[in-house]
This record gives sequence, structure tokens and C-alpha cells, in this order.
Amino acid sequence: MGFYAGQVVPRIIDVACGMKAARELRRRVCEGLGGEVVEIGFGSGHNVPFYSASVTRVDAVEPSDVAWKLAGKRLAATNVPVRRSALDGQSLPFADHGHDAALSTWTLCTIPDAAAALRELRRVLKPGGALHFVEHGLAPDESVRTWQHRLDPLQQRLFAGCHLARPIVELLTDAGFTIAALDVFYEKGAPKPMGADSLGVAVSP
Ligand SMILES: C[S@@+](CC[C@H](N)C(=O)[O-])C[C@H]1O[C@@H](n2cnc3c(N)ncnc32)[C@H](O)[C@@H]1O
Repeated sequence: MGFYAGQVVPRIIDVACGMKAARELRRRVCEGLGGEVVEIGFGSGHNVPFYSASVTRVDAVEPSDVAWKLAGKRLAATNVPVRRSALDGQSLPFADHGHDAALSTWTLCTIPDAAAALRELRRVLKPGGALHFVEHGLAPDESVRTWQHRLDPLQQRLFAGCHLARPIVELLTDAGFTIAALDVFYEKGAPKPMGADSLGVAVSP
């Protein structure tokens, strides 16, 4: 990995993902999380302040050492035990059906094989376990989709493989999840091609 992708991008993501506007979405997506949780694409830990007391442990999955280091201050301020347990959401070193819940926030855009990561989450979740997600992806409106397809190659180059037009709900249902709650909206303050969000809960039957 080059200097830009390895050193610069995680710092840009830390600032972009730390925006105040995202906090309410993080609060909503973390609501109801409990037990042993796996969080893929942990980044620099912006969800940590929103873990509730009923979360007993978090297995963080994050490839970037820089992002993990930037998470330090948030990890020091929480009582929830969080350990960096794996580097790649596409291949998790966990037993089958050992986790109560999973969390993914603005990560399915970046994991090279998002379908493989979702299959892994299904494998490690207990039956009935829930994946809480907020992801940007394919917009509901055709005019916005056109711009997403135009801008996608540039976005991938600038943000280390971030895709603009992944069909989030389709990816979840193709992996065998059942959608239990879903809100689709454009994120306030974000350009529509980058801010077409799906927030919800997907259950592993
Ligand atoms: C846009 S950031 C989101 C970070 C964090 N979830 C948040 O909401 O602040 C995407 C994250 O996915 C991570 N990532 C990239 N490839 C991954 C992979 N194969 N498995 C797990 N995480 C990955 C990146 O390093 C980055 O931290």
C-alpha cells in the first residue's frame, strides 16, 4: 500500500467520519446493540461513544494501523472492552455463530468484496443476530445514480477503493439477511451522490 492510501486516507476518513452531522446517525444505528459485537471497518472508533452498557465486548475488524491508532482516545474513554481482533472483514477468524450482533457504518462501500464480508457476518452471527448498518450506496433517484456512475472511478482513486453505487439492501438480502428496519435518505450536508444512505437492522435468520 502506498503512502497516500496508507497514511493520508485514514486521516482524511478520520476527519470526514468525525463530522458532527454523523453523530445522530451513529446514535441511531447503535441503538439496541448488545452482547458480543463484531464491528467491521472499525476505522478510528467514531462509534465507540455510542456503544450502550449492554454491549459486553466488541471485536473490531480494521486493516489500517493508522486508523486504529487514531481510535486511541475514544478507546481510552469507554468502559466497553474493545479489541482489534481481525484485519479483514472478508475472512473473519471467529467461530461460527459466536456473536450476538454486528455493526457496519460506511464500510460496505470500501471492502473489496462486500458480499464475502456479509457472508462472513452471517456465519459468525448467532441465529437471530442483527447487523446494524448505515451505509452510503446506490441512490433511489435515477438522476443521482447517473452522477454516482460518473464519479465512481474518481471516488475509488481518491478514497482507497470507496464505491459510490453499491446496492446496499440488495447486497444484504443476497447474503441471506432479512431486513427488519430500514430508512433510506440523503445525508444532510453531503452531496447526494456521496450521501445516499441506508440505515437499518438486518437479521440473520
Ligand atoms: C469510510 S471508513 C468508515 C470507518 C468507520 N466505520 C466509521 O464509521 O467511522 C471505511 C473503513 O473500512 C476499512 N476497511 C477497508 N477494507 C476493509 C476490509 N477488507 N475489512 C474491514 N475493514 C476494511 C477502512 O480501513 C476504513 O477504516
